[in-house]
Amino acid sequence: RRVLSVASECAPLLKTGGLADVVGALPAALEPLGWRSRILMPAYPGLLHRAGRSRRVWRDDDLFGGPAAVRHAKHAGLDLLLLDAPHLFDRPGGPYAVEGRDHPDNHVRFAALSWVGARLAIEGTVDRWRPDVVHAHDWQAGLVPSYLKYAGSAVPSVLTIHNIAFQGIFGADQLDPLRLPSWDFHSDALEYHGLVSALKAGLVHAARVTTVSPSYAEELGTPQFGFGLEGVVAARRARGEMSGILNGIDTAVWDPAADPHVAPFSAGDPRGKALARRALLEEFGLDEPSGPLAVVITRLTHQKGIDLLLEALPGFIGAGGAVVVLGSGDPGYEHGLAQLAAAHPRAAGVRIGYDEALSHRMYAGGDLVLVPSRFEPCGLTQLYGLRYGAVPVVAATGGLRDTVVDATPERLADGTATGFSFGEDGAIDAAGLRAALDRARELHADREAWSRLRERAMRAPFGWAASAARYAGLFEELAR
Ligand code: ADP
Ligand code: GLC
Repeated sequence: RRVLSVASECAPLLKTGGLADVVGALPAALEPLGWRSRILMPAYPGLLHRAGRSRRVWRDDDLFGGPAAVRHAKHAGLDLLLLDAPHLFDRPGGPYAVEGRDHPDNHVRFAALSWVGARLAIEGTVDRWRPDVVHAHDWQAGLVPSYLKYAGSAVPSVLTIHNIAFQGIFGADQLDPLRLPSWDFHSDALEYHGLVSALKAGLVHAARVTTVSPSYAEELGTPQFGFGLEGVVAARRARGEMSGILNGIDTAVWDPAADPHVAPFSAGDPRGKALARRALLEEFGLDEPSGPLAVVITRLTHQKGIDLLLEALPGFIGAGGAVVVLGSGDPGYEHGLAQLAAAHPRAAGVRIGYDEALSHRMYAGGDLVLVPSRFEPCGLTQLYGLRYGAVPVVAATGGLRDTVVDATPERLADGTATGFSFGEDGAIDAAGLRAALDRARELHADREAWSRLRERAMRAPFGWAASAARYAGLFEELAR
């Protein structure tokens, strides 16, 4: 069986967040279940070079205003189809933005990606590779199911929502240039309040919809989390066509016992973790704290609750904690974090930027990983924290709720606790974060209780096996 995965990013080739990790890890998890994957993604600058030897398998003289080709390459165990369309993808900046501003033609760029995804599913490539199922990720691939439908194709599609906050909205004057039929521009299909929404199109037209945790699947049907699409989501859920499948982590890439970035350690032998901690403190010029060393690895956005951190961290530091933050995003948050570091030069380290290797050293060196998100479809940083013994402190929302068991007295006693959570009552705020940090600090002071909790966290099972089986089951049902 064959699945064509269509996405805007894929680790290790190009990553801005968890989407890339998931797209890059699923193929290896699906393979033993009889599903071969190819991944279609844009050939951003330098990607063809990085992917190594490639071969052209498809071409088009006019893909929304310029010539395009698809090149097949094998890289890091992945079968990649790279969409080479210089007029859309060969430009400075990141995949979505340059110097903090979205590329103005993002709707064209990703409609093109979706168009080609549908064409490859229908026509196959020169080596006659045709998928049984197309797996579209987020709004950037949201139009794949629609293009398949308009072409009368029987190839079934699955849309996975990694984050409903991003919807790919553009004006109705673009329908024609993007080969979308105006007869389908109405509120049960492409239209969203007078505009076109690529994500809504996928939500309506995909054979099945999934999202990345069971809790987020429920939350998406409510106005608080649905970002205006709660009605469409709820309707598909009611028909049994939408489910939540928890993300796994790539346990080969994220393995403290065999991570090239740190000295090896494990749940049974955590001595290497003390070395990683010491090294991290040194790297950032911090003193040995009397309390726990917390790490934060994140996009600096409203979603991630950075303002809550800025409010709660001074108290945490005052009580003996230390913190290291790695991230980039909103200039206001970057500035706030720089001020925090300046105010506490021996207890707070901040690195603005994106650094994969440093992130590994931080998960390894941290006692805690902080994830106070306002909403979180799944979240991977708490999972990496668990695996590396950086006990998560999380807001009780979405996938964070599904993956971290709060250290209440009962859960500590029965041995199921793996971290700390706050906001179960729906109030995700600085006071809640502060209280959770206080509890973490207190438990950290009890060395024995702490090493038990940490060991339990490290043994929590979050590989891909169970979730990949659910994707495979879904694909199989559709392919039949
Ligand atoms: P999201 O996809 O919403 O950003 P996730 O928790 O699913 O959140 O995934 C974030 C991924 O990006 C993790 O692999 C995390 O380690 C990584 N990451 C985030 N910010 C940085 C950064 N500044 N440097 C390195 N890795 C980062
Ligand atoms: C999104 C979500 C994050 C999720 C990731 C991978 O970026 O914000 O919660 O883990 O996608 O599914």
